[in-house]
Amino acid sequence: MKIEHQETRNDDIDRLAMYREIQRAVPGLDTIYRLALSLVADQPSATPRVLIVGAGGGREIETFGTGAPKATITAVDPSAENLAMARRVVGPATSVQFVEGRVDDLRPDETFDVATSLLVMHHIADDGAKLAYLRAIRARLATGGLLIHADICHNDPEEFERLVPIYKAHARHVGATADATHLELQAIPTLPLVTSDRIHALFEQAGFAAPREVFRSLWYRCWVSVPASKSKKATPSAPPGGSQDIANYDQGKPT
Ligand SMILES: C[S@@+](CC[C@H](N)C(=O)[O-])C[C@H]1O[C@@H](n2cnc3c(N)ncnc32)[C@H](O)[C@@H]1O
Repeated sequence: MKIEHQETRNDDIDRLAMYREIQRAVPGLDTIYRLALSLVADQPSATPRVLIVGAGGGREIETFGTGAPKATITAVDPSAENLAMARRVVGPATSVQFVEGRVDDLRPDETFDVATSLLVMHHIADDGAKLAYLRAIRARLATGGLLIHADICHNDPEEFERLVPIYKAHARHVGATADATHLELQAIPTLPLVTSDRIHALFEQAGFAAPREVFRSLWYRCWVSVPASKSKKATPSAPPGGSQDIANYDQGKPT
């Protein structure tokens, strides 16, 4: 038993190390996590409720735990192995609520000020499942809530192929391992990716305002959005900061 446990732990560490190595090969990817942290820290509430959808790997939990320690974090992931990696990253003393499952598996009354969905939806088929995924998140956002969403997205396979040499040059420049570079480039064409137009359409159908792109590097993109009905109700008297500013910006009124 002991040996088996040790092997599992080493496997987790290897998975985590490879995941982080793949992320390191992407130019500027850290910016997504810094941006997400800024938006959590900018919430009007001193103790924002944050939902991390697809928490495997622990990147968001680690970032928010350090930079926004008063946030209350719920971390959801259907993969027990990936959730285990996230637990390992933050250690046993964390107050994070870990949920092995999907957003629909949360208690019905749980709502959040911010939801992150970082590099998750490109794993989900566009056969109704992407839309259901976004709708489930939309249903969990409190009034004035904010979604931070990142996906791998390109508009055609040629666009991807044209960018591959740049990805490789950057990976070489930062000394990323050949395995990490190969794994990512091999995986991307097999993912159920959609175009940015399709992402906009899915957001609209799920009840979100048009997403605003806040980061792009090669085929990695990040958007923010707010619930559509709430953004229409934005009032100039609302306190500064948080998603209210983003809702105003969405209406062409940058604050
Ligand atoms: C590429 S990892 C991204 C992890 C983390 N968000 C980050 O940015 O480092 C994608 C994660 O999404 C999880 N996932 C896949 N489908 C999901 C779903 N329907 N709901 C929540 N998480 C999901 C996977 O198990 C995996 O841990």
